[in-house]
Amino acid sequence: MEKMAIFIVFEGIDGSGKSSTSISLQKIFEEKKIPSIVHQEPTRFQTGQRLRQFLSGNLNLTPQEELQLFIDDRKESVKLNIIPTLESGINVILDRYYFSTAAYQGNETRSPESILELNLKENFPVPDYLFYLDIDVEVALKRIQSNRNTLDRFETKEKLEKIRGNYRKILPNTTIYIDATQSQDKILKDILSHIPN
Ligand code: TYD
Repeated sequence: MEKMAIFIVFEGIDGSGKSSTSISLQKIFEEKKIPSIVHQEPTRFQTGQRLRQFLSGNLNLTPQEELQLFIDDRKESVKLNIIPTLESGINVILDRYYFSTAAYQGNETRSPESILELNLKENFPVPDYLFYLDIDVEVALKRIQSNRNTLDRFETKEKLEKIRGNYRKILPNTTIYIDATQSQDKILKDILSHIPN
C-alpha cells in the first residue's frame, strides 16, 4: 500500500519561531525527496484576510465574531488546503491549528477547554504530530521586537503569559514539546528524531 501523507502541526506563542521552523522542515523534506507543503492559519483566503485585518487592529470584531471567524477560516483551511494536500500524498506542515484558537480566544467568559471542544466537534483532521515550540514570554517578546517595530494585537507580556497558560491547559498529552530557545539546527534535529523516515 502507498505510504500515507503525514499531517504535522506547529503551535507556540508569537515569537516562538513556528514559521521559520516550518519552512526549514519543508526544506529538509525536499532534500530527502519527501513532498511536503507548508500551510498557515489564518489562511490566505478571504476569511484569513479579514482575520489579518483584525489582528493588525484595522477591524473591530466582538469576541463571538472573532471566535466564529477563526473557526470559519479553519473550515476553509481544512477543505481547501489540508485535505486536498494530504489526499494527493503530500505531507502537510501546518503553522497553527485549533489549539491556537483555544489558547488565544480562551478567556474567563469562554474557557480554552470549551473552545477546543467546539473545534473537536467539527471533526477537523487530527494531526499525526503536534509540536509545541516552548519559549518564555520575555524571550519571545524580545525576538519579536528585534524583528520588527510594530506589535500585533496579542503581543503584550500579560496577554502572552495568559496564552501560554491556556496552551498548557489544552494541549493533549501526545504533544511533543520542543525547547524553542535552542539553535535552529538543534530544534530541527529534535523534531526529526520524532518523525520516522
Ligand atoms: P502568526 O502565526 O503569528 O502569524 P504571523 O507570523 O504571520 O503574524 O499568527 C497570527 C496571529 O493570529 C497570532 O497572534 C495568533 C493569532 N491566532 C489566533 O488568535 N487564533 C487562531 O486560531 C489562530 C490560528 C491565530
